Amino acid sequence: MIVAPSILSADFSRLAEEIKAIDTAGADWIHLDVMDGHFVPNITFGAPVIKSLRKTTDKVFDAHLMIEQPDRYLEDFAAAGCDYITVHQEACVHLHRTVTRIRELGKKAGVSLNPATSLANIEEILPYVDMILLMSVNPGFGGQKFIDNVYGKVMMLRQMIKESKLDIIIQVDGGVNDKNIEKLAKCGCGCVVAGSYVFGSDDYKTAIEKLKI
Ligand code: DX5
Ligand code: ZN
Repeated sequence: MIVAPSILSADFSRLAEEIKAIDTAGADWIHLDVMDGHFVPNITFGAPVIKSLRKTTDKVFDAHLMIEQPDRYLEDFAAAGCDYITVHQEACVHLHRTVTRIRELGKKAGVSLNPATSLANIEEILPYVDMILLMSVNPGFGGQKFIDNVYGKVMMLRQMIKESKLDIIIQVDGGVNDKNIEKLAKCGCGCVVAGSYVFGSDDYKTAIEKLKI
């Protein structure tokens, strides 16, 4: 299981230290939640902040763009040092163009689905992406309750990927903790994002280890 702590739940006044702490504690990737106050009802940070954080670690930067019209900013996020750039299917009218552009910029391309969005919406894009992110909460905030029907969605997606013989990571984001990690792994999830579970714990190392199953 790839574990990607989300800095959304970190202490924003000490972001560099927090990233170093999860790096040392064994985080595989650093998950960066970019919110614009339009696609989701919250605002976080953008490419300039990510660029300055890039100096703090060599770990994979996994940018989750919860923004409208992401095409306008892809070059900025690529230049800021993101390794994975994930856009929301719901925010992209020309999704194929968007993911193709991400790959042209030399980055791994991800597509995310909100809890209420059907897998049918990504069937045609699978050959062009490196990762599918299934949201297990409605995006916008950390610390929300895991929505159980994502288990079935992960299993269905695993089947779709298997049938198409593609190499695509299934990532799950929202409400992930030590109680649901085992079932997520069994269903076929290969990467989890965890914000409040990791940053809300006294010991980041133990929290991350519990997710690495
Ligand atoms: C939600 C974000 C998540 C969030 C997860 O909109 O995409 O990455 O930080 O936080 P937890 O793990 O607290 O649900
Ligand atoms: Zn996220």
